[in-house]
Amino acid sequence: MKQEQLVDSYGRLIDYLRISLTDLCNFRCVYCAPGKGASPLLPSSEYLTRQEILHFVQIAGRMGIRRIRLTGGEPLLRKDIVDIVCALKTVKSIKDLSLTTNGSRLKPFLKPLKEAGLDRFNISLDSVDALRFKEITLSDAYEEVMDSVSSTLAYGFRVKLNMVVLKGLTQEEIIRFVKMAVEHPLEVRFLEFMPLCGTGWRPDLVIPLKTVRAIVNENFTLSKLPREGNVAESFSISNGQGRVGFIASLTHSFCGECSRIRLSADGMIRPCLFSDRAVSVKTLLRGGAPDDAIANAIREAVGMKPRGNSFQEEPFSGEEKDIDRYQQAPLIRFIGG
Ligand code: GTP
Ligand code: 5AD
Ligand code: SF4
Repeated sequence: MKQEQLVDSYGRLIDYLRISLTDLCNFRCVYCAPGKGASPLLPSSEYLTRQEILHFVQIAGRMGIRRIRLTGGEPLLRKDIVDIVCALKTVKSIKDLSLTTNGSRLKPFLKPLKEAGLDRFNISLDSVDALRFKEITLSDAYEEVMDSVSSTLAYGFRVKLNMVVLKGLTQEEIIRFVKMAVEHPLEVRFLEFMPLCGTGWRPDLVIPLKTVRAIVNENFTLSKLPREGNVAESFSISNGQGRVGFIASLTHSFCGECSRIRLSADGMIRPCLFSDRAVSVKTLLRGGAPDDAIANAIREAVGMKPRGNSFQEEPFSGEEKDIDRYQQAPLIRFIGG
């Protein structure tokens, strides 16, 4: 039987699904602040169950989804996280199953998640200074997160670290972060601050990643690696064990290469991080609808995928005129970006 492929209206092949498992989080990062100004938290009965998520993935896998990322909020707050990973590993067409976490509760999950077959982790780490870490995340979990990073590597997982570069806050740590990637086999990624989630958006804190790249290039010799459909442009570092990556969502939108759709914790299929269009699939999953109806919902969401976000049309320059303009940017009320 010929394998279906999901192709959107602009010819992009969709093979990557991000699944948000919960909108709960035990951090309150300044750039995200879940719950603050965002939609109220969902009652747990609204969340898709493990069986519903598995059913969705079985169908999406038959339609060409090959990579899955579990996100939140903080996905490790889902009590059945290990069971969810075990369930998703039974879907043989999924070639890459990964999870994005704030790392604070990761260590006890490393053994069960390794046994369950999870492939890799992306860990948020915005500062390697304990005080600044607290200032950014409003959490005391600095030691736990640092310990998780080294334990995750020791368990043999591939690791990417996400660092949101914020003017006057984390900017001065850029070189220290690259040194971590020189000394350890992990990828350090610098992220541009985006207008997502709660009330944390401050365009005056955005640092265009070309500034970050210039700082890195002055101090290290980088060689470009193939992009392979990733949001980050990644580089190997001369004499380094790891890599460095740049995710320039505002100044250098990568919408043309986008391969993603998203499933929210409450069962909405969202075709784009920056669009509030969505197709509900929860009632179908819950009401025992035939697989064809669920497949059609996936096709409908893919068909709605916009060409790109507003930053693709008018990239953010980081200059004064843009700061004013983007102060007004509509916030994307979506945790688990
Ligand atoms: P891999 O490439 O599979 O390692 O994952 P990832 O980098 O997409 O996942 P992660 O959860 O680590 O997200 C890193 C950053 O990329 C976050 O700031 C996300 O908000 C951003 N991001 C993820 N998906 C998209 C997307 O579709 N569009 C844009 N503009 N940003 C995205
Ligand atoms: N801008 C940029 N990155 C963000 N993240 C969360 N909110 C934002 C934002 N507003 C990052 C987190 C995490 C990843 C999933 O997204 O730091 O690493
Ligand atoms: Fe939690 Fe992630 Fe938001 Fe930080 S960015 S508050 S870790 S969901």
